[in-house]
Amino acid sequence: MRTIDWADGAIEIIDQTALPGELRILKLTEVADLVAAIRSLAVRGAPALGVAGAFGVALAARQFTGDERGLADAVHAVEHARPTAVNLARGARRVAALIPAGPEAVLAEACAVRDEEIAASAAMAILGADLMVELCGERPRLLTHCNTGGLAAVTGGTALGVVTELHRRGALAGVIASETRPLLQGARLTAWELGEAGIDFRVAVDSAGPFLLARGEADAVILGADRICANGDVINKIGSYAHALGARRAGLPFVVVAPESTVDLETPDGDAVEIEDRGAAEITGYSHAVNPAFDVTPHDLVTAIVTDQRVIRLDRGEKL
Ligand code: MRU
Repeated sequence: MRTIDWADGAIEIIDQTALPGELRILKLTEVADLVAAIRSLAVRGAPALGVAGAFGVALAARQFTGDERGLADAVHAVEHARPTAVNLARGARRVAALIPAGPEAVLAEACAVRDEEIAASAAMAILGADLMVELCGERPRLLTHCNTGGLAAVTGGTALGVVTELHRRGALAGVIASETRPLLQGARLTAWELGEAGIDFRVAVDSAGPFLLARGEADAVILGADRICANGDVINKIGSYAHALGARRAGLPFVVVAPESTVDLETPDGDAVEIEDRGAAEITGYSHAVNPAFDVTPHDLVTAIVTDQRVIRLDRGEKL
């Protein structure tokens, strides 16, 4: 099943706010509905956001035919629906470049973005599984954070795609899914995907991760990225940095799996990235709060970055 697709002139998504309780499909026929779905995290995860940006522009091209101003505003709204994952704006801009060629050309380019993400997931699963065995030996036990499975992509996923591939090879000894506060992408979505795939797992509260690594409960950390900067700094779900510190302290690999569409050589380092603040309401209704949705893991804590085309060993001084 695809997390996001184009069907009968509309965007269809799995509503990730309803999981794991309900597998609900949303049919989005207006750009404003897509923007709301992106903001509410009904569709989320960097590769899926890239496809949402692409299909969002395809939807805009149909909804605003002959209305140049309306179309420009709609493209802008899609591009800026969330700030941190580079895929969203990148997918929207790539497809918007085809607007002069007409709605059919726009849709064809959006479908190409989708198909490339599907192919990238498949390629990362193989490259990443091989690397994990190389780094950890046969049958590694892995700790992962946030949700990086098919729900975060179109099918397959990034880090969770590697986990699934290791399981398929009979080469996975265990998974710990970090809960991922405050919206529980780990406890709700990763747990759901692992259950569907028949993979045994345990959920841990975020703050237990570094301690579990210190106690030898996992052999490596594997997670995704929303943006990888030119110097190798990794922007990912809040809590990733703490896991990187825990892995370094325990002397364990910290591996980032993300498609080339997440590598952003135009952003020099993590300091240059706008980190989305999702507001206090997600945390508490009765006091002030700070709610950064992502953090920056400095490149010197990253063992390797796996994309669909290459393995970059930052621990050996290799550059992006
Ligand atoms: O706020 P979210 O749920 O969109 O954050 C998603 C993540 O941080 C993922 O780890 C990242 O996008 C990689 S997805 C393959």
